[in-house]
Amino acid sequence: MTLNAAEKLGTLLQPYDVILLNGDLGAGKTTFTQGLARGLAIKRPIKSPTFTLIREYQTGRLPLYHMDMYRLENAAANDLDLSDYFAQPAVIVIEWSQFISEQLPTQYLQIELQYLGLTQRQLVAQAVGARFQELLAQWQTALN
Ligand SMILES: Nc1ncnc2c1ncn2[C@@H]1O[C@H](COP(=O)(O)OP(=O)(O)O)[C@@H](O)[C@H]1O
Ligand SMILES: [Mg+2]
Repeated sequence: MTLNAAEKLGTLLQPYDVILLNGDLGAGKTTFTQGLARGLAIKRPIKSPTFTLIREYQTGRLPLYHMDMYRLENAAANDLDLSDYFAQPAVIVIEWSQFISEQLPTQYLQIELQYLGLTQRQLVAQAVGARFQELLAQWQTALN
């Protein structure tokens, strides 16, 4: 279900879209990104970028930059410059985006994932900015 919902969102994504995924370890952020990638027609398997910080996928409908800021130390967060990524006509997905809160763009779709049970996750989405309010509305329509 999470994968299906994520895949539907993936089909609606446009260049410069930014998706923030927050929630505890194991909440399903990377799994959600796998569904999104499916919706972007990316065939390569999506692996967690926990150790690499950023993984890049160029073979889908749009480029995907998948980031995981979990291992960033506070100091490194200030050194890391993500502006080149945000400037590209790609889709950007960020796990643990709270660790780079000062660098985030002003508009995004934020999805909070919560573990409910072995096969159950709760998703709470919040859209900031007109583009993402539109995207959220389209996603809700697609899910009904
Ligand atoms: N919607 C879901 N239903 C069932 N299992 C899930 C779901 N989402 C994630 N999982 C499982 O939970 C574990 C952790 O998921 P993961 O996506 O790596 O979490 P995170 O990236 O938030 O740390 C994995 O074993 C994954 O298969
Ligand atoms: Mg993860």
